[in-house]
Amino acid sequence: MQDIQRLGVYTSGGDAPGMNACLRAVVRTALSNDLDVTGIRRGYEGMIEGDYVEMDRRSVSHIVQTGGTVLKSARSEDFMHKEGRARAAQQLRKAKIDALVAIGGDGTFRGASKLHEEHEFPVIGAPGTIDNDLYGTDATIGYDTALNTAIENIDRVRDTADAHNRLFLVEVMGRDAGFIALNSGIGGGAELILIPETITEMDMVKERILSLMSAQRRSTIVVVAEGDELGGARGIEQALRDDPEFSDIDLRSTILGHTQRGGSPTAGDRVLASRLGVAAVEALLDGHSDVMVGLVNGETKLTPLRNVYGRRKSIDYDLLKLTQILS
Ligand code: F6P
Repeated sequence: MQDIQRLGVYTSGGDAPGMNACLRAVVRTALSNDLDVTGIRRGYEGMIEGDYVEMDRRSVSHIVQTGGTVLKSARSEDFMHKEGRARAAQQLRKAKIDALVAIGGDGTFRGASKLHEEHEFPVIGAPGTIDNDLYGTDATIGYDTALNTAIENIDRVRDTADAHNRLFLVEVMGRDAGFIALNSGIGGGAELILIPETITEMDMVKERILSLMSAQRRSTIVVVAEGDELGGARGIEQALRDDPEFSDIDLRSTILGHTQRGGSPTAGDRVLASRLGVAAVEALLDGHSDVMVGLVNGETKLTPLRNVYGRRKSIDYDLLKLTQILS
């Protein structure tokens, strides 16, 4: 059993709606187990610099419904190096922090695992990223909100696309993963969905668009993940504009970008974040470390951090086939 008196908690990497709800759950679960809690601001940057704040019950009041992260977030270059992690460990010891809960994604867990390995800090990860690309959990905190934001915006684009008989390329986030693209594309009734997990050939894209447009459609929407190898919406738009066959097609691109990262978390994200925050602290108190707490088939499950950042969560290829039937 690990002797933990003071818990440190931080959010790191790209923020995700629901991180605050998770933080609230971590803080309140820790306090109700008689632990003291320190909030580490700005992720690993703040950990290295000693940017720490005492957390009490009231410090997390009324944040369950807010996007962003009250602890702020950062991507730290220094923490990627051994010296940076040694400085962080020194600051943590100075602040009498015995264990950590890390809320973030792939890069956050890679860092947390290294800190555990090199400096023996017990650490539990809670999956917070809109990308939903983490192995060991059916959904990540923030994904449901981002997905709904993407769908709402695709619906809006559909109205104007219909009004003008236009072709729209809608780019959604996902540098390495197509979960948002695939599911927002299906939910938004997109005619074509392009994701990083599959090979996208420009000739196929052109052929499909021409056949859709010649079928007298009111509009065509192509949802493309930013990480698709053809260069996202901008890359595809350029290739289409360079082709004389597309000179008569009225074409626009919309990049949803960081609108998908903000906003009030959905009910699903608030509940998921709350459950995982509680489970993270309970796992630490039960003596677990170097693991991520996830939700699999409705049950909380622990997965070693090295398996989370070392593996890719696969998309559902049956879902991809659906678009061909439905469009
Ligand atoms: O990892 C979440 C994410 O939103 C990705 O989908 C996106 O590629 C990336 O972060 C953008 O990061 P930044 O805000 O640092 O540009």
